Amino acid sequence: MVRSISHNAGAVYRRFLKPLLFRQRPDAVHSRMLKLAAVYQKFPAAIRTISRILVYRNDALLKQTVNGITFRNPVGLSAGFDKNIELLPTMQSVGYGFMTGGSVTYQPCDGNPRPWFYRLPKSKSLIVNVGLANQGVERIRQRITSYEEKWLAEFPLIVSIAKTNSPENCNDNEAIADYIGSLEVVRNEKHIAAYELNISCPNAYGGEPFTTPKRLDKLLTAVDALSLTKPVWIKMPINLAWRDFNSLLQVILKHHMTTVVIGNLNKQRLGKQLQDAIPVGTKGNLSGLPTQKLSDELIAKTYQKYHGKLIIVGVGGIFSAKDAYRKICLGASLVGLVTGMIFEGPQLIGQINEELTELLVKDGFRNISEAIGSNNQ
Ligand SMILES: Cc1cc2nc3c(=O)[nH]c(=O)nc-3n(C[C@H](O)[C@H](O)[C@H](O)COP(=O)(O)O)c2cc1C
Repeated sequence: MVRSISHNAGAVYRRFLKPLLFRQRPDAVHSRMLKLAAVYQKFPAAIRTISRILVYRNDALLKQTVNGITFRNPVGLSAGFDKNIELLPTMQSVGYGFMTGGSVTYQPCDGNPRPWFYRLPKSKSLIVNVGLANQGVERIRQRITSYEEKWLAEFPLIVSIAKTNSPENCNDNEAIADYIGSLEVVRNEKHIAAYELNISCPNAYGGEPFTTPKRLDKLLTAVDALSLTKPVWIKMPINLAWRDFNSLLQVILKHHMTTVVIGNLNKQRLGKQLQDAIPVGTKGNLSGLPTQKLSDELIAKTYQKYHGKLIIVGVGGIFSAKDAYRKICLGASLVGLVTGMIFEGPQLIGQINEELTELLVKDGFRNISEAIGSNNQ
């Protein structure tokens, strides 16, 4: 029943809504979608109706505890879609098991000059050049506090934190003080389940800030000194060779942090997945399908070497249950997506969850936790 509704909703999205949306500039669509969702979530009856249609729930198979946090299902919204954490009820009502809001920075930030997005339809990708636009951590903290308890009871909120994107903030000490300032603002916020340190945003002044072992060590030493009581996830870059990626993992382990999100946007515009021409001068980095293989490979290697020591959140190029399941069987405990929802529609989340249960049953697993790393022993 749920399946036929969400499949029909998917067909409607792909046949009617997507062609309409994809005719408009992506920046305009993004802004309109945020505004529409903000209006939609003011109406409890609308939220209830959409939840009834789109949420797929199967606690026996999909619910698990990771990092001490209970997740009703393993599919989360990855960072970047809801930068100001305005859409928590909407994201819950389309069936996500958790959401990562932000990236949030200490100072409010306008981001890079527009356009922020360029669509690559054949490559199932977006070129993203937002540059960490957000309202700043204090304003966003107040918004988080204002959410009613019911929205967060079974819906973990992860807050992604980056350094303020400004030319004055490229020096390491200032950048570290910026991350720490943000963490201090939100450290006692009871509605937040975990923090995600975005060390790998490629679209900001100074480039990726903390993706060398020495600089990462310095940042994490400062984070350790805060003695935070909630888990800290680290959002990893995906364009590093395994040797360099592994050096970062070793730094992370030294600081007793246990969760890595693999990973961020693809900085390289090469590879057979790239099937659209990109106009000269288009700035930004690739999401979606061009991130998929890099993310899968790094998940597999990380699990092989650090399984039992590091928890993996698999992000990059998830467009179907098979994509999510592959990442889980390679070693991801949870998965996240952004581009899949934009290309396939919001019903994708429930559809992935429902089809995941079928894949789990087919392979003889009683719970998602048994499938983690099962294809990577
Ligand atoms: C529109 C957009 C904005 C993004 N902004 C952020 C961000 O602020 N912080 C971050 O850590 N990642 C950001 N990302 C990266 C995504 O979280 C994700 O790592 C990447 O897009 C790969 O996942 P996907 O293929 O499902 O989109 C953004 C991605 C997109 C598409």
